[in-house]
Amino acid sequence: MTKQIRLNLIFHTSGRHDASWKAFDDPTVLIDDIDHQIELAQRAEAALFDAIFLPDTPEVLTPSFLRKPRRGLDPAVLLAAIARETKHLGLISTAMTQLNHPYLVARSIASLQHISKGRAGWNIVTSQDDAAFHALGLPVEQVDRDTRYARAAEFVEIVTAHWDSLPHEAIVADKENDVYIDPALTHPVDYDGEHYRSSGVLQLTGRYRGDRPVMFQAGISPVSRAFGAKYADALFTSQPDVDRDRAFYAEVKEIAARNGRDPEHLVVLPGLYAVVGDTETEARKRKAEFDDLMETRFLVRNLANSLGIPADKLDPNRELPYALFEDHPTDDEVITYRRNDIGGVSRANGFTVKQLVHHNLTRGQRALFGTPEQIADTIIEWRDTGVSDGFNVNVDVQFDGMDRFRDVITELQNRGRFRKEYEHDSFRRNYGLPSAADS
Ligand SMILES: Cc1cc2nc3c(=O)[nH]c(=O)nc-3n(C[C@H](O)[C@H](O)[C@H](O)COP(=O)(O)O)c2cc1C
Repeated sequence: MTKQIRLNLIFHTSGRHDASWKAFDDPTVLIDDIDHQIELAQRAEAALFDAIFLPDTPEVLTPSFLRKPRRGLDPAVLLAAIARETKHLGLISTAMTQLNHPYLVARSIASLQHISKGRAGWNIVTSQDDAAFHALGLPVEQVDRDTRYARAAEFVEIVTAHWDSLPHEAIVADKENDVYIDPALTHPVDYDGEHYRSSGVLQLTGRYRGDRPVMFQAGISPVSRAFGAKYADALFTSQPDVDRDRAFYAEVKEIAARNGRDPEHLVVLPGLYAVVGDTETEARKRKAEFDDLMETRFLVRNLANSLGIPADKLDPNRELPYALFEDHPTDDEVITYRRNDIGGVSRANGFTVKQLVHHNLTRGQRALFGTPEQIADTIIEWRDTGVSDGFNVNVDVQFDGMDRFRDVITELQNRGRFRKEYEHDSFRRNYGLPSAADS
């Protein structure tokens, strides 16, 4: 059978382009207007996307947050509302393993699993953000990566243990003997780890018709790969180029197999930024028009900050002065990574600073510009050559960008690579993951 392509829509209320909000007559609806967000979800369902994916970070008034509205509604609460207005669409909420307690996350995602009747997903992120510590009134504690993932492993073990703690069979509802729940049939959690403790039984079943929520994990580093390939059903990643996507794909599938898993049951989905036009030139022009709505000075300042060099030394119309990296040495791991990554792309393309900042607006994901046929060709080629199982799709501007992307979906359907209607109501089953319904 030809390999089917999995597509989630990343749920940006205005679109992925940082200037997308300027296309709206009333941009104030983008943070917390429920009707706009329901409409977006319903359109994603009409397009037959597997799921909508809600990234989430604690609110921070950084300069970029001040310049682009982000969805503000709590993801799990918003998805509960969307669940009641859709039927088939998977609903992926993000919850951090730092600064949360696994019991609370277990309850929240299990609730979404029931409210959506089997369509919940949890995106496990290990990020830590100073703003979140401040919001919670806690001293900022930077945790090294190994500890972050050791904590995340305990976190996930507790969440899944809670999901299994009250099996449906334990709700005996025996009216005669006055027993509602039979404690002998429960699996109380009794977890005493290095980082978390939790005991007891969740007050709802964690599974809907035997199926637990679909677990995603978003990360990049080797330790994150080992974690994701062990625990998650699906991975969201962002590699600098297609070759590294391919290497990532092979590596995580191999780790999954080493953990005794069927590699087919680990779905790998990098980010994709797709701009559809009648021609490739038209699609690129569309991006350039939105790029021009951004203030260059601001973008240059951001670039300089992210590379740890002074902004006033950058001329938008000239190449990046690479010698600045030596003039301003750093031992910051992330800045060093960016200097290699962004600096490398800039050198390879001979970009001016202005071209580089515009290029960076789609950073972290494969960007495709072209006709529906061209984009479908590339997606199929990548699917067939071990780059990914599909993509987390970003469209530039809602709703027009998604309407255009529907033509890509039609193309994939015509070639037998994407569903023509939802196969199931369950997210897990639509994703081809093992389900209680199969046994
Ligand atoms: C594709 C992708 C999406 C992510 N989405 C989120 C998110 O929505 N919220 C968040 O707090 N962190 C998010 N992260 C951050 C990760 O949880 C993690 O902190 C980061 O990738 C650095 O750690 P790592 O190198 O071990 O992956 C995301 C990371 C990636 C790669």
